[in-house]
Amino acid sequence: MSVQETNAPSGSENNVISLKDASLSFAGNTGQVDILKDINLDIPAGQSVAILGPSGAGKTSLLMLISGLETLSSGKAVLAGQDITTMDEDKLARLRRDHVGIVFQAFRLIPSMTALQNVAVPLELAGDTAANEKAADALKSLGLGHRMGHLPDQLSGGEQQRVAIARAIVTRPDILLADEPTGNLDSATGASVIKELFAAAASVKAALVLITHDEGLATRCQRLLRIEDGKLTTDEQIKAGA
Ligand SMILES: Nc1ncnc2c1ncn2[C@@H]1O[C@H](COP(=O)(O)OP(=O)(O)OP(=O)(O)O)[C@@H](O)[C@H]1O
Ligand SMILES: [Mg+2]
Repeated sequence: MSVQETNAPSGSENNVISLKDASLSFAGNTGQVDILKDINLDIPAGQSVAILGPSGAGKTSLLMLISGLETLSSGKAVLAGQDITTMDEDKLARLRRDHVGIVFQAFRLIPSMTALQNVAVPLELAGDTAANEKAADALKSLGLGHRMGHLPDQLSGGEQQRVAIARAIVTRPDILLADEPTGNLDSATGASVIKELFAAAASVKAALVLITHDEGLATRCQRLLRIEDGKLTTDEQIKAGA
């Protein structure tokens, strides 16, 4: 199937993300570099979406646009029902804190904080007085009840990524973004972390957007997108669901 000509209406209430003709460019030494070109994409609540594409195609850049970590050069972006196209950074940071969880390839835990403290951070930023209890519950649900007091460098890679998943879902986001979350793990550990990632997204009913180079893994999602040279070249529903 090719890219849909007409997506669901952008801003539709059931979409956690809606991009309309979204483009991203940077000023390079030899002129403007177009990273993403006229992306149209609506992701409904709870849907799992895989993003595949060659290195440099723009996958991470797309995730940055979806999360509002990068500002569009043109087009429109709606996140959790709010237009973020020109939203100021403070408001956007709050929106992201309340609605988006992100898991990176390199874990990105705070090295001086224990697993529990790392997971509690987003809740504390939101002023949640039950931050520690909720963080502990999230860690237990990922099988890390016995590692809560450990610092990141006292944890294995798979454990660190589980902590990162706990941190990403502890606020019960509407959308969980994962950028090659098993890229730094061996295949057996990666497989179990992916299982945890799907379960974590399902447990809070979050949409899951998963960037991967693994075609087999991609087919575990409900929908498959391919990005080539900054363009969305494939948008296929491969499984029933949202
Ligand atoms: N801040 C930036 N300034 C200029 N160019 C950038 C910037 N960020 C990304 N790019 C360029 O945008 C293109 C897409 O990068 P991106 O990181 O999105 O690719 P990717 O598909 O995630 O690749 P990979 O699979 O290697 O992670 C690359 O050519 C990259 O060099
Ligand atoms: Mg990338």
